[in-house]
This record gives sequence, structure tokens and C-alpha cells, in this order.
Amino acid sequence: MLPQLGEVKSLDRQQLDLSNADEIRRAIRAFHPNLIVNAAAYTAVDKAESEEALARAINAAAPAAIAEEAKKIGACLVHYSTDYVFDGSKTSPYTEDDPTNPQNVYGKTKLEGEIAIQESGAPHLIFRTAWIYATEGRNFLLTILRLATQREELRIVCDQTGAPAASREIAKATIKVLSQCLMPGNGAFSLGDLSGVYHMTAAGKTTWFEFAKAILEEARTIEASTPWFAAATNNLPLIARRIIPIPASEYPTPARRPAFSVLSNERLARAFSVRLPDWHTQLHFVFTDPSFHP
Ligand SMILES: NC(=O)c1ccc[n+]([C@@H]2O[C@H](COP(=O)([O-])OP(=O)(O)OC[C@H]3O[C@@H](n4cnc5c(N)ncnc54)[C@H](OP(=O)(O)O)[C@@H]3O)[C@@H](O)[C@H]2O)c1
Repeated sequence: MLPQLGEVKSLDRQQLDLSNADEIRRAIRAFHPNLIVNAAAYTAVDKAESEEALARAINAAAPAAIAEEAKKIGACLVHYSTDYVFDGSKTSPYTEDDPTNPQNVYGKTKLEGEIAIQESGAPHLIFRTAWIYATEGRNFLLTILRLATQREELRIVCDQTGAPAASREIAKATIKVLSQCLMPGNGAFSLGDLSGVYHMTAAGKTTWFEFAKAILEEARTIEASTPWFAAATNNLPLIARRIIPIPASEYPTPARRPAFSVLSNERLARAFSVRLPDWHTQLHFVFTDPSFHP
């Protein structure tokens, strides 16, 4: 979607290794962009517990280097962060002003990245998002569909609450924000005094258990030959008959996860009049709207 806003140069891992800060600096100096969008991160939440140095290089040192270079050339930086900067002890939606207290290495290193960007003085938008899924890649939606072809019974965590978002809705919201910051004529972006952290998640809330149930309900309505769905299920029928709610304590993982990570999106709505649909509507779009598939 970014090409809607101007010429885009995108770099994959082979072209730019984010664990190498010198490479980052060289690339930014060579391209001299008006806007830098960093959606890359070390996202293996459990593996990060044993790969802290690499997670820190990609989630903290890389955004720090990007922000420093952005500041030097007057570029705006868009960066994505996470609900895992919070400890999950609240019972009402977290605002951007709530104290952070990450419970795992991934959350800690992502928070370090946020702080480095804020301290750099570069114009920036840090979008904290959560529970993202899509019809490609590795994510909860695709895992549930695959497991539903393999097992009659699924056991899914029911005591973690959040708001699942389709990656396409995050992209659409980002474009809506950025199109308001694009200066007419010269392709540059201006944030004025709007630099800062914004929560950008689906409206509403649910649990992994309820989300899994909703996925399988939607799955019963879709044509099995729909390309993304056929790939997700490997053309096999869904055999899951029962979804059993279990506490997170029955599904131990190396990294602790917050029990409650619903974020308030009010700051984003106030500043940019952008609101994402609620999580259930987004899921329905994914199963029914062909524009959701690459
Ligand atoms: N997924 C979620 O539920 C979630 C929740 C909250 C926040 N976020 C944030 O949203 C953003 C996007 O997350 P995502 O789930 O879309 O991530 P993802 O699917 O894991 O993609 C991460 C990307 O980063 C790239 N990358 C990793 N290490 C790299 C390196 N050393 N050099 C260059 N590229 C590297 C990966 O490249 P390869 O494809 O080559 O591995 C991949 O394209 C991240 O900032 C994440 O922290 C995600």
C-alpha cells in the first residue's frame, strides 16, 4: 500500500541485515528517504529468551540507528511496537501513558527500541499493535486452520485477553495516518507536534479460545478451494469437532505473556480520526473480502 504515497524502496534481509547497524546507516545515507517504515523485528517471542543479544540488536539497536540517521536527514520514521511492553495486570484498556513493564525479552527489547527512537529527536510515529494475523506467514489464524485438519480436539488458552488484528487493517490505518502527514508537492512528510507513541489495534476484545472458535465458525462458510484457505488447510477437510478452553498454565512457554493486553486506541482516533474495525468484523473480512489477500 505504501506506493500510494510515493516511490518505495523496500529491502529484504538479504539486502539489509538489521543486526548490522553500519549497514543500516550506509543504506539510509545511500537512499536518503523522506520516510522510513520499519516493520521488521525479531519476533520469535519464545526463542528471544535464549537469544537476547540478537533480539536486542534487531529490536533496539537497529531502530536506534535508523532513528539517528532519520534525524540527520530530516526523514520521518514509522515503527511498530507491541502490547508486550505491558505486564498485563490491568483490567481496562492500556493507554499510551500507562507504565510499561515488559515480562519477556522480546517485550523488553521492543521497549528499548521505542525509547531509543523517542530520544533520537527524529520525527516518529511508533504504532503499538497486537495479536496480528494474515492469510500468509506464520500466525494464529493459520495455525488453528492447520491444527483443525489434524486433530478432532483443540485445546486453546482462555485466560489471555487481547484484540486480534488483520495485518491488512494495520497497513490501511498506517496509510490513512501517513496520507495526512504527506506535504503537497515535494513528497516529504511532516508530523508537526504529532510525533509519539500510538496504540493501533482492533477494537473490542476476546481470548485466544474465543478467537479460535470464531475462526472455525468462519471456516465453515468459506469455499474450500479459495486459494489462501486451500493452502492453509493443505486441501484437507477440517476435522476439529471440539475446542476445549484451557488456562495458560496448562500451555507453558519459555516467555511469559501478559494476561490482559487490550490497548486503548483513543489517541490515534483523536489525532488522526483513524479507527480500526472490531476484531470480529476484521476476521469476517479476511474470510469474505478478496482484497484482503495478496
Ligand atoms: N505479529 C504480532 O502479533 C505482533 C504483535 C505486536 C507487535 N508486532 C510488531 O509488528 C511488526 C511486524 O511483526 P510481524 O509479526 O509482521 O513480524 P514477522 O512476520 O515476524 O516479520 C518480521 C520481518 O522482519 C524481518 N527480519 C527479522 N530479522 C531481520 C534482520 N536481521 N534483517 C532484516 N530483516 C529481518 C523478517 O525477515 P525474514 O522474512 O527474512 O525472516 C520478517 O520479514 C514488528 O515490529 C512486531 O514487533 C507484531
